[in-house]
Amino acid sequence: MLLFRLSSALLLATAGPLVLPVAVTERAITCDDSSSIQRLSCENGVISVQSALYGRADRQICSEGRSPQQLANTRCSQEGTVDLVKSRCDGKTVCEFSPGDIRTIDPCNGIVKYLDTNYTCVPAIHFVTCEHSYTTLQCEHGQVIFVYGADYGRRDHTTCSYRRPASQTENVYCSNPTSTVAEICNGKNRCTVRASNSVFGDPCAGTFKYLEVAYTCECEYLQGF
Ligand SMILES: *[C@@H]1O[C@H](CO)[C@@H](O)[C@H](O)[C@H]1NC(C)=O
Repeated sequence: MLLFRLSSALLLATAGPLVLPVAVTERAITCDDSSSIQRLSCENGVISVQSALYGRADRQICSEGRSPQQLANTRCSQEGTVDLVKSRCDGKTVCEFSPGDIRTIDPCNGIVKYLDTNYTCVPAIHFVTCEHSYTTLQCEHGQVIFVYGADYGRRDHTTCSYRRPASQTENVYCSNPTSTVAEICNGKNRCTVRASNSVFGDPCAGTFKYLEVAYTCECEYLQGF
C-alpha cells in the first residue's frame, strides 16, 4: 500500500519530462548514549519512516571503545520501534529526538544499543496553523485526503511566535503527534480542523502551540488498495 502511494506521488511530482525518480532511502544511525540526538530531515517533501531498529543487529556499528561482551548480541531489537519513530516523524520536514525517547524497555541488558532508521522523503502538502486558528485541508475534485502526519505542540522558538511573550514560546520540547487529523480528514475531499486544546487536548499548558500537518491527495477510486 505504501509503495503504491509512494509511486503515485512520485509520478505526480514528475509530470513533465519522463524522468523516473528513485525514492532515495536515507539512513540515520545514532548510538544510544545520554547526549545523542537522531535527526531526520527532508529538503524536499516530508519524512516517511520505512524501518527502524532500536537494539543491535550489527557488530561494527557503535562499537568504538566497547568490549566484545557489550557487542555480543546482534539479534537485539525492541518491538514497536518503527511505530514510535513514525508517530514522531512522519509528515514533518525535520525531526529530532534522542534514542531515550524511543526506548520503552531494555531489549538486551548489558549490550550497547543504537537507533537505526531508514526513511524516504515523499512529496506532500505541508503547513502549520497557529493555535486558535482553523485550517482547511482540501483536494481537487475526485481526490481524497490522506494524512501522513500531524503534531500539535511546539518544537521551535520561531514558528507562531509573533507578539507572543517569551514565556509562551520557550518550551520547544512539546511534541505531541496526533492521529486526530487523520481520523477527521482521511478519505474526505475537504475538511476543516481547529488548532486548539478543545480538539487535541493541552500537551503543554502555558505554551502557545501550533498544528503541523502533512497530507497528500489520492484518487478516490484507489482508496482501499
Ligand atoms: C536500513 O537500510 C540498510 C541498507 O539497506 C539495511 O542494511 C538496514 O538493515 C536497514 N535498517 C533497518 C532498521 O531496517
